[in-house]
Amino acid sequence: MSTAKTKKEIAVLVIPTYNEADNIGKMIEYLNTKTFPYIESKKEGLTSDWDMKILVVDANSPDGTGQVVDKLSKKYQNTYLYKETSKDGLGAAYFKGFKYAMDELKADYVFEFDADFQHPPETLPSMLKAMEEGYDYCIGSRKIKGGAEPEGRDFMRMMMTEAGGLLARFILFFPFKHFFDVTDPTTGLKVTRVKGFIDQLDMEFSHLYSKKFGYKVQLLSETLAMGAKFKEVPLKFENRTSGESKFESDTTTEILMSCIKTRWFDPTTQKFLKFGTVGFVGYVVNATTLALFSNLWNIEWLSWLLSTELAIISNFTLNNLWTFKKDAISGISQLISKFVQFNITSAGALAIQIIAGTVGVYFLGAEYRQLLLPFIIVFLVLPYNWTMYNKIIWKKKN
Ligand code: GDD
Ligand code: MN
Repeated sequence: MSTAKTKKEIAVLVIPTYNEADNIGKMIEYLNTKTFPYIESKKEGLTSDWDMKILVVDANSPDGTGQVVDKLSKKYQNTYLYKETSKDGLGAAYFKGFKYAMDELKADYVFEFDADFQHPPETLPSMLKAMEEGYDYCIGSRKIKGGAEPEGRDFMRMMMTEAGGLLARFILFFPFKHFFDVTDPTTGLKVTRVKGFIDQLDMEFSHLYSKKFGYKVQLLSETLAMGAKFKEVPLKFENRTSGESKFESDTTTEILMSCIKTRWFDPTTQKFLKFGTVGFVGYVVNATTLALFSNLWNIEWLSWLLSTELAIISNFTLNNLWTFKKDAISGISQLISKFVQFNITSAGALAIQIIAGTVGVYFLGAEYRQLLLPFIIVFLVLPYNWTMYNKIIWKKKN
């Protein structure tokens, strides 16, 4: 038999607490005596040797939560207490926890996990399984088959959660693929691979739009933007058995604001806004030079040709210097060949407009001509140009 032991995979459950004295002791005992032995015995198809650790990040709770954890950390070698000096919010607590888990506990994976048994520990093995399968990010969802909201929630509360979740998805991701495949954007149960993801995060609190509950949607969006391969597993969200929720009256607004800021400052959004601005400048160049040339000479086709080409030059130059600055084209031969490509894709856009316009007027009638134009631009020309620019002209270099 080989003596070389395979390296154990270290997974750290980061559990933030504020006044959870009634829960945290039970949780630590439960995890150490039931859940972890179950994982160790490789149930549910697990194959790795998992080294499970608990890191409680306590916000200096006045109810003695810290003392409970301190005591248990002497009983269980894998259980650690990180003492915060004050209650800085859930997001801040997680970031402190992530840093400690990476630097001190050598975590390969970090979990976001609640102390109050609302996240059933029974969900953990399936999440570890996802990591073994090569996923980078696994999320507990209340919205997929097998997942659920706590029983006995009144209709209004259910509708609020439902609408809130949908709104968050819309703000964060619409119309891209994660709008459809992230079913529970505000869920609190997650596991993330450290290498390539948690270790790539900006760990300064100042980078968080919200240090409270709102951190979660920003982290979700940023992790997915890093290209994390992600999977959802069903989460049966339970009722709180003891203690009180830290959800405050302004928490919903705070999460909503965090969604808006996350989307607004997202690099792709910023790029899209610049792309739109450049397109508008192109239109202005086109219109003004068309008027100018028409005054200078009487050759209609030449005025159109030159003014259109000037708009194309303006679009190409401004997009290269501004919108796609990070992937800017340089060097004379590259510039020439890309500019030729750009003219071809622009001709494509023109063709789309001509065909859609002609077909549209044919079916709807000439009275819809002017109304048709903005629709064609927004739903056909813009997506076409955006795709061509991103996938062909300013294709990412790496
Ligand atoms: N250290 C620290 N600092 N811990 C905190 C803080 C804080 O400021 N605020 C809350 N916690 C701890 C709680 O003690 C608990 O262990 C965990 O974070 C979750 O807080 P709850 O107050 O139980 O949140 P919730 O049940 O209302 O919300 C849950 O569901 C939401 C989705 O509906 C959480 O999982 C949220 O993350 C999730 O968005
Ligand atoms: Mn809770």
